[in-house]
Formats: sequence, structure tokens, C-alpha cells
Amino acid sequence: MSRHNQVGEAISTEIDLALFGALGDLAQRKLFPSLFHLEREGLLDPATRLLGLARQEHDRDSFRAQVQKTLKTRVKAEELDREALERFLARLDFLQLDFTHPEGYAAIHEWRQGAERPMVVYLSVAARIYGDICRHLESTGCLDDESRVVVEKPIGYDLASSAEINDAIGAVFPESRIYRIDHYLGKETVQNLIALRFANPLFGTQWNQNHISHVEITVAEQVGIEGRWGYFDDAGQLRDMVQNHLLQLVCLIAMDPPANLDADAIRDEKVKVLKALKPFTDDMLGRDVVRGQYIAGTIDGRSVPGYLEEEGANTESHTESFVAMKTGVANWRWAGVPFYLRTGKRMPEKLSQIVIHFRQQPHYIFDPDQRDLAANKLVIRLQPEEGIALEVLTKDSGLDKGMRLRRGPLHLDFNSAFPKTRIPDAYERLLLEVMKGQQYLFVRRDEVEYAWRWCDSLNAAWKDRDEPPRRYPAGSWGPVASIAMITQDGRSWYEDY
Ligand code: BG6
Repeated sequence: MSRHNQVGEAISTEIDLALFGALGDLAQRKLFPSLFHLEREGLLDPATRLLGLARQEHDRDSFRAQVQKTLKTRVKAEELDREALERFLARLDFLQLDFTHPEGYAAIHEWRQGAERPMVVYLSVAARIYGDICRHLESTGCLDDESRVVVEKPIGYDLASSAEINDAIGAVFPESRIYRIDHYLGKETVQNLIALRFANPLFGTQWNQNHISHVEITVAEQVGIEGRWGYFDDAGQLRDMVQNHLLQLVCLIAMDPPANLDADAIRDEKVKVLKALKPFTDDMLGRDVVRGQYIAGTIDGRSVPGYLEEEGANTESHTESFVAMKTGVANWRWAGVPFYLRTGKRMPEKLSQIVIHFRQQPHYIFDPDQRDLAANKLVIRLQPEEGIALEVLTKDSGLDKGMRLRRGPLHLDFNSAFPKTRIPDAYERLLLEVMKGQQYLFVRRDEVEYAWRWCDSLNAAWKDRDEPPRRYPAGSWGPVASIAMITQDGRSWYEDY
């Protein structure tokens, strides 16, 4: 079966998908439901097969039963179409395997016997064993010149460890067949940033330091550590969220127009942004960066424990669950434009939003009291309630208002503007792109490494200082210092939508 690439050319999507970690949290929570949705929408090629691999004991039937159970809890009842479910389950096979030992990989080879479609290997396992799996697949003859590998974040802990992992994968797969997932790149509204910026001449001409005063990115989560203490306490919010998701958003906002929509054209431009990010120095720490850790509080009327009281917690931990920072992109387009970023766990609501603050008019002629109102803002809401709003100023209506100004949104709410279109989960889009063999929504090795280089500069400065993070109550917008960080520049975090 053929599908189309991003510029409408037909390409085949027929694959054999070998999913390592098929009983893990990500596979059950995201990958199988997403694959099922692709099935339901007729986007899985009829010949495509799915092989689940896990250490646990199962056979094909019990694995199918497990996936069916997962789908019943993860997919809305009205979307769990019976025929699609039968078709989907019939594609599934299972192999029990100890991933770190070569014995057993012959069974994958056997599964592939005679198949002419490309094999896609999805590694939903700890990054430290990516290299082992790739080597064993290669040495047992499971791979060919068309095989692709999909890897999840986090790729490493810093530049050195990520280079080691990337080397191990790269010893088996060429970069053109490595798909590094950053699931934010699969979100509908994140993709829309490319359309918004490069399809609308209105923004094209305004998108630089002459017209934009500052950029704000908030990625707030209500959830806490959710049983992931072991992983999270080693990582912290900087590595977990900023190194990947927030920096990808910065790239899409700050990059120059690519020459076309090819993967490398886009990724070359993103890398230029990452290279131009201002590195952190010790003197910036107190002023431009705030690290926080939540203490017990209330969210939606429910009491929640503090970070150090979470299950399995090390009660001495200094790991940050919140970070706010002021950074910038040191190049011609963005000179002097601060990028304020903040992200945290246990915030009052789940909210991912980018706000572009435009400069005021060079000469102001309205009521002096309203001067602060007088700038446009473009608010891009990634989740929830995906949409775009442009705040414009109009005259307040009424005979007694004179030329009083009023702020109001030109608002495009995706759900009401396009009500019949279901907004797909990020993984659906990413899985489909892997099937098509298209890399533009995946992260290239140099992107990962420049992002680590920048984070490493901050981690090194933090380590030298060895200060505990600031406390913030769960259910608040972070430590007071993160508000002070932006108000010291005469600005505030955007709150209306
Ligand atoms: C993951 C992080 O990459 O992204 C999690 O590891 C985080 O800690 C999640 O909760 C947030 O993703 P989303 O799509 O819910 O914003």
C-alpha cells in the first residue's frame, strides 16, 4: 500500500515492526493504542506485521489477549471498532527474549524469513542496552540495507554518555535509518508551528528582533513522578523535559526557513539554533535560572505529597522538578530577544503554550494609562485545547469610551474550527512517518548532542554551586523566584488565553 510524503509523493508503508519492550509502560500506554488507531483509519498496510518482544513469558495468544485488554482501557469504547480490532490482533506475534544475549535472536530471523518488506526495530527499553540489541540483530543476520531503528529518549545523561549510545547504534545503522523520537515533534500543534511560520507571509516578515520583544514557553504538568522515582531522580526536569521537548520548541520558533521540507533541510536549520544558544555561566545562575522542587500541596482540591515524600524517594534529594530560565539565541535574527522557558511537575494545570510578544509601535498616541496593553501577542496553545490566538487591540465600543483601547483575541480553536477531525496522538503520526521512512519529525544525532552540550553547561554550573532547589507547593506555578526572574525585566508570565 502506498501513502504520501509531506509534499504529496506516493511512498510505501509496508513494514515488519519488531517492538522491543512490548509489555512495557510506553508500549502499552502509547504504542499499541496508536498502532490500533492507524489500523482503524486504514493507515496500516495490509501486509504489515507486528512482533512484540519482551522478557516475560507469553505466547502469541496470551500476548494478543494482553494487547486487547490494554486497548479496552486505552481506546474509547466507540472507537474500538470490532473488525479493526480483529484485523489488528491478527497481525500480532510474540517472542520471549533476553535482549542482552544473542541466543534467541535467531527466532527473529526466522520470523522474517522470506519477508521483503523493511524491518523496523523499535527500542522501547533502557538506552544502555540499545547497543547490545543492535549488535545482536546484526550478528544474527536479522538486518538488511533497508532496516530502520527507532529509539526513545532519554539518549544518555550528558554529552559523553549520549555519544556512547549514539556510537553503539551508529556502528550498526547509518544515520539515515535511525529515528530518534521526541514525541513533542509528533504533536499536531507543534507541527503547526512550521505551517504557521512558513506558510503565512504575515509572520514571515515580523519574525525577528525588530518586531518581537521576547518569547515565552511554558510546559506545565499536573502529574508528579508517577512511580518513576528511580529514573526521574537521576535525570531531573532539565534533562527530562528541557534538553529535548523545550529545546525542540525553541528550535521550531527560532529556526530560519528551511529550503524545503526535507528532513535534513529542517534539521540543519534547527542545529544552527542549538549552536547559537547562549551557554550558561556561573554569574547567570542566581539571576537567569531558577530550580525548584515541589513540597506537599493541593491540586484540583486533592492533597498531593511533596517530591521527597513520593514512593521510593531519597529524602535528601536535590533533584529539580521545576526549572525556569532566561536564555537567548545569539544570532542576527534573535539578538537581544530573551527566551523565557519554564517547565515543572505538579503545577496547577497541564498546559503547554508558547507566547510570542511583539514589540510596541515606535510612537504611541493613545491613552498613556494603557501603554502596557499596547503590543500584540501570538499565543500558540499546544495542549490542552489546541489552538492559536493573536491578541490584537481594538477600540473599546461605546459612546463614552473615546479612543480607549481593548485587547481581544483572534482565536483559532482547532477543536471547534475543525470539529470532525480527531487530533491524533503524537505517536500515531511518528509511527506513520517511520513506516513511510521519513525522518523530518525525528531528531538527528547532532541535535541531541548540541542540546546536551548546552544542558551540560548548566548542570556543571549547578554542580559547582551545590545549592538545594527552591521549594514550591504542589499546585502552584513554581518558586516565587521564577516570577521575580521575569519581573526583574519588567515583564510577567502570560496568563490569559
Ligand atoms: C516525557 C517525560 O518525555 O514527557 C515525562 O519523560 C513527561 O516526564 C512527558 O511527563 C510529558 O509529555 P506530554 O505529552 O504529556 O506533555
